[in-house]
Amino acid sequence: MAKARLFRLWLVLGSALMILLIIVYWDNVGTAHFYLHTALSRPHSPEPAPTLGQGDDLQLPSEADPLLNKILSPDAETALSRKKTEPPPVLVPSPGARSPMEESVRGYDWSPHDAQSSPDQGQQQAERRRVLQGFCANASLAFPTKERAFEDIPNYELNHLIVDDRHGIIYCYVPKVACTNWKRVMIVLSGSLLERGAPYRDPLAIPREHVHNSSTHLTFNKFWRRYGRFSRHLMKVKLQKYTKFLFVRDPFVRLISAFRSKFQLENDEFYRKFAMPMLRRYANHSSPPASVSQAFRAGLKVTFAHFIQYLLDPHTETLAPFNEHWRQIYRLCHPCQIDYDFVGKLETLDDDAAQLLKLLKVDGRLHFPPSYRNRTASSWEEGWFAGIPLAWRRQLYKLYEADFVLFGYPKPENLLRD
Ligand SMILES: *[C@@H]1O[C@H](CO)[C@@H](O)[C@H](O)[C@H]1NC(C)=O
Ligand SMILES: *[C@@H]1O[C@H](CO)[C@@H](O)[C@H](O)[C@H]1NC(C)=O
Ligand SMILES: *[C@@H]1O[C@H](CO)[C@@H](O)[C@H](O)[C@H]1NC(C)=O
Ligand SMILES: *[C@@H]1O[C@H](CO)[C@@H](O)[C@H](O)[C@H]1NC(C)=O
Repeated sequence: MAKARLFRLWLVLGSALMILLIIVYWDNVGTAHFYLHTALSRPHSPEPAPTLGQGDDLQLPSEADPLLNKILSPDAETALSRKKTEPPPVLVPSPGARSPMEESVRGYDWSPHDAQSSPDQGQQQAERRRVLQGFCANASLAFPTKERAFEDIPNYELNHLIVDDRHGIIYCYVPKVACTNWKRVMIVLSGSLLERGAPYRDPLAIPREHVHNSSTHLTFNKFWRRYGRFSRHLMKVKLQKYTKFLFVRDPFVRLISAFRSKFQLENDEFYRKFAMPMLRRYANHSSPPASVSQAFRAGLKVTFAHFIQYLLDPHTETLAPFNEHWRQIYRLCHPCQIDYDFVGKLETLDDDAAQLLKLLKVDGRLHFPPSYRNRTASSWEEGWFAGIPLAWRRQLYKLYEADFVLFGYPKPENLLRD
């Protein structure tokens, strides 16, 4: 009896000690992190990207994490040794990593929508964050999951948060918002991908298929396997200490962009998964062709109206949550649960990217890959929505309203009036 009580007491004391250890550990990492920061951002060094040497300060986080692993989980040792023996991926250097088709679509899309150059970028960031925090805090905007605590976000919904422990950066990627290039930047910064034993230094040298392979990136949803029940605590510590950013875009323009790249180009995966059901359900096509090439040859494509109908159909999300290319940004990045330090916009991508890299103190190491500038937007947004019934447009606005409001995009009145 007394023994059992004594045992329980030890258990409680042990847990308390462990939590204390973690806090102390993280405070140390935090300090080291500042040191790292300065060490990495020597701006005018002729060799800006240091190679991963033995015992230099760059090693710290990758060694510190396994140390924590060892404390926290019994099977961490095996995981660690597995990781160590894994050969680095053999990579074919591939300058033409992107297909020309994709490029031209992105060129078309990457256009300044309401590009107004602000005299004071710091002020602009402050304003974006003020709007975001304001609408998260007050009751004037309601949307699902707004009041949910960070602890209650399921792990699989944290799969868009990419962590770079070296520089203390967290990036929430939003598809169709320059995410390929930001993922490239994250790979270079974290050194998470090697080419013939050395980390990539040039973002554009990384082959596209590696950029979008989720095993290339350390994301929050993978913490659970590494750290078990301490994972949430670690995430919260990192969220507190690291610089967190995301890039957003006008929600309707993002939808057009998603439609163009996934349904107007031959994409077999999206055809089978999404276009075929749309053709069956909305185009009265009982047996659509089995492959996208057959369908395109027969002149059969889903229309933008089908796509909108699919988004508005209550049946759609009873099967699966929206695909990430059209899922609302607030559902991908949890902006009311995570206090983002920097909110970039595609409409001001080049300026925002330069400002962010400076803020992260890595502007001496790399440049953000240049983007295409083609065609200003407002005229073609109306064109795309011309064939969409007014009632649908209004429903669609409701569906994406939180993204419009939280990120300061004006309500597109011209599309929503009679
Ligand atoms: C701009 O977009 C138009 C229409 O999509 C296209 O024809 C043109 O080639 C593009 N220009 C550039 C420089 O990408
Ligand atoms: C809610 O916050 C937003 C952004 O700060 C502000 O514009 C709006 O007036 C606020 N609404 C109310 C009812 O306080
Ligand atoms: C992603 O990368 C991992 C490890 O390099 C590899 O095993 C896997 O096949 C890749 N997945 C895809 C879809 O390319
Ligand atoms: C759908 O197709 C079937 C046969 O292919 C036809 O009988 C029916 O009238 C069509 N319905 C609509 C709404 O077009």
